[in-house]
Amino acid sequence: MHVGLLANLKKNAPTWPGMSPDQWDDLDSEKTIEAIAQAIESAGHKVTFMEGDVTLFERLKAVKPDICFNICEGHFGDSREAQVPAILEMMRIPYTGSRLLTLALCLDKPMTKRVLAYHNLPTPPFQTFERVDEPLDADLTLPLFVKPSREGTGMGVSASSIVRDETQLRRQLQNLFERYNQPVLAEKFIEGREVTVGVVGDLRQPVAWRLPDDEEARRIMRGLHFFPPLEVDMGQYPIEEAGVYTNRIKVEMAEDFHYLCPAPLTEAQVEELNWLTAATFRVTGCFDVARVDFRLDANDNFKPYILEINPLPGLNPGYSDLCIEAKAGGWSYEQLVNRILDEAIARYGLA
Ligand SMILES: Nc1ncnc2c1ncn2[C@@H]1O[C@H](COP(=O)(O)OP(=O)(O)O)[C@@H](O)[C@H]1O
Ligand SMILES: [Mg+2]
Repeated sequence: MHVGLLANLKKNAPTWPGMSPDQWDDLDSEKTIEAIAQAIESAGHKVTFMEGDVTLFERLKAVKPDICFNICEGHFGDSREAQVPAILEMMRIPYTGSRLLTLALCLDKPMTKRVLAYHNLPTPPFQTFERVDEPLDADLTLPLFVKPSREGTGMGVSASSIVRDETQLRRQLQNLFERYNQPVLAEKFIEGREVTVGVVGDLRQPVAWRLPDDEEARRIMRGLHFFPPLEVDMGQYPIEEAGVYTNRIKVEMAEDFHYLCPAPLTEAQVEELNWLTAATFRVTGCFDVARVDFRLDANDNFKPYILEINPLPGLNPGYSDLCIEAKAGGWSYEQLVNRILDEAIARYGLA
């Protein structure tokens, strides 16, 4: 097949005077794109890379791919990850991974948390702020964790995200409004371990935006393949990072990543995390691949809390969480990439 590889390369991203240095931290490197292209070619396909920007529509008309491998994060707008899929759907071109609604939803952490809370899935209690002086909800208690609503790769996440009093809260709100110009999410600070679970595959029943009855519940996991959970080894990082998976750790220290994979967890803990991952995958309507980030509450018997789901998890072969997990699960990088592609090929009935 002729596969269009669609991504937003860091080096092609627009720049302007005074832009934030972390502005494009979630975009991809050439190294990642080359690795994905090679993996897809190794399965016998032809690959054409296309930048997911305003030139894409014309490029697609000329290239005419059979299917696209989409990892575009987008440049501008609240639902930027949904823009390229919107073009693909207008042009009726099949593509890998989740569709518009899911990509727009999952980029918005508070919206995702509302969906999770509706389904009684454990996510930290929260409040969104649109102004620095908005009163704190009476039922939300300090310490809180304060982060941008619609960013990734730890953007806006640092040790000062943990706020222990009103002054720190207002200061962090002020900082984030100035820097990211979007609503800010404040959630209960979950002190504890940091674990992430990667999954490939698809639910064998149509994705419904609800959870099945109790006795049926575990059946929804069929069709999904879970990789061993990865734990960020916080003990290996400078104390200034405060046990948080910060932007500095994710970007500046990415090549020297300290982790435990498989994470030292009991079988029962892994099963619970897998179930929560499957449930999150289902209620957010994901396809083909995702990664769910958890915190295990040290003050409550390591109860897992869902922080977010990433329907476009990083695919850097060297240090992305999902790739490390796949490797720990005995998969090669080629197998991982082609499984995502093959799931989409099967979903569209192109096999
Ligand atoms: N409620 C919270 N309690 C404790 N730590 C948190 C909380 N929310 C986020 N964090 C920390 O911040 C990191 C990034 O948060 P996350 O919501 O996963 O955003 P990103 O999209 O940047 O990965 C997490 O991996 C975790 O270390
Ligand atoms: Mg995360």
